[in-house]
Amino acid sequence: MKLEDVLAALHEDEALEVFQPHWDESEASLGPELPFFLQPDQVSFHSKWCGFGTEAETALQEAACHIARNPALLHLAWHCYRLLYEHTDYNRMVEWPTLEAALGELGGAFYILVTMAMIPRVLAVHRSMGVPEDVTRDTCLQVSCVAGNYARMTGGRLGVTLNTIYWMRHYPAGRLFRLGRMEYKIEPYHGGVEVYRRRASGDVIALAPDGVRFNGAGYVDGAGGVFDEKCSWTSTLTYDDEAVTGYPISPAGMAVRHRVRLPLAEWERVLAKGDLILDMHIPAGGGMTPEKCGDSLRRGVDFFRRFFPDKPFRAVTCVSWIFNTQLEEIELSSDNLVRFQRELYLYPVPSTGSDGLWFIFLSPSVDPATAPRDTSLRCAVADFLAAGNIWRGGGMFFLTEHLDRFGTQYYRSHWPPPGLGL
Ligand SMILES: CC(C)(COP(=O)(O)OP(=O)(O)OC[C@H]1O[C@@H](n2cnc3c(N)ncnc32)[C@H](O)[C@@H]1OP(=O)(O)O)[C@@H](O)C(=O)NCCC(=O)NCCS
Repeated sequence: MKLEDVLAALHEDEALEVFQPHWDESEASLGPELPFFLQPDQVSFHSKWCGFGTEAETALQEAACHIARNPALLHLAWHCYRLLYEHTDYNRMVEWPTLEAALGELGGAFYILVTMAMIPRVLAVHRSMGVPEDVTRDTCLQVSCVAGNYARMTGGRLGVTLNTIYWMRHYPAGRLFRLGRMEYKIEPYHGGVEVYRRRASGDVIALAPDGVRFNGAGYVDGAGGVFDEKCSWTSTLTYDDEAVTGYPISPAGMAVRHRVRLPLAEWERVLAKGDLILDMHIPAGGGMTPEKCGDSLRRGVDFFRRFFPDKPFRAVTCVSWIFNTQLEEIELSSDNLVRFQRELYLYPVPSTGSDGLWFIFLSPSVDPATAPRDTSLRCAVADFLAAGNIWRGGGMFFLTEHLDRFGTQYYRSHWPPPGLGL
């Protein structure tokens, strides 16, 4: 079929440019059989792996039936599947139409079926690596997790958030795995701090990169476009043959305006931009008790050491709203997040003023006056914003050598390292 005819039949003519790339290849590769991800037994198989219950599965079967009977939908579904999982340089998924004209409320289910088509690829790559089945099961849950966000955004409808659908490509690539509460992949560290470890005692100190402007409180200046004209200052980081000299970051997450010199005979560098790290991601779902977080960190490190022995790493890192030190200032129904923060070495990062608010309110812009307040987290953050505060993100690292100290607030309890005048 021609793309123009497909889109005309679906009343989606304006999506021509979005779907044009690779259309002819999709048409050439579509055989006479129903695409595998629309076949009833496969829909059932995929939805179980992805963590959907029977009610959702019934709706997905219904949507698959509609698509199978409508050639325009069928050709488009095959094309979307290929754009998502074959043409990984294609990145216009966020512009894909809702398909409500053709499918009504089942428009979102169309994209779940497409997303779930990753399952055979994920199973094949995990089996070829020898990944334990419980890890594969947990990893595939991300599809229903994302569908949960969509349901919360739309009053309970089935669907996936198209702004995050690109994320699914990590799973068939065999690079992102869920171990307990969190997901991880190995990446080069994007930077944010340089970390030194005192050889004799194991004390740890992070130094700010060169040229970062901090406000008087030690956070990166300019969050939300607001600058500290009176008290801001700029970090330096210099090296000579014998030492590194720079500004420390306290493990509580802010820069300290007191330059320190670390002799390299005494201090070794253990984390710098470009080093391989275990990059942590936090799927939605609550229940981030320190026990679950510690368990996940340990399992994550073990797993990646075992399956990626050629990619050694010494730290787990993450940048997220979840490491925003302002969470100490707001009251939630549980103290899970601040307890987790206190186990980690936090550091300041540049903030737009709305970092991570999408994950809390599931909306591109948040007006505290009208934002939903159906959970204590949403209430507390909306109140905090309404009071005129500017929301920040935060960064964290945790050195793998301290895994057995998780639960002891290791970095804070060993701060400041002696002898540096801090
Ligand atoms: C929000 C989140 C960090 C909460 O973890 P937690 O502190 O262990 O959560 P709890 O289970 O103790 O719940 C605390 C409150 O937050 C609410 N909550 C949990 N997840 C939520 C979410 N994604 N959005 C809004 N509120 C949420 C809970 O309903 C609870 O409110 P209640 O007291 O009214 O019932 C996390 O679990 C989550 O789901 N985050 C979404 C994913 C995310 O932001 N990832 C990082 C991307 S950079």
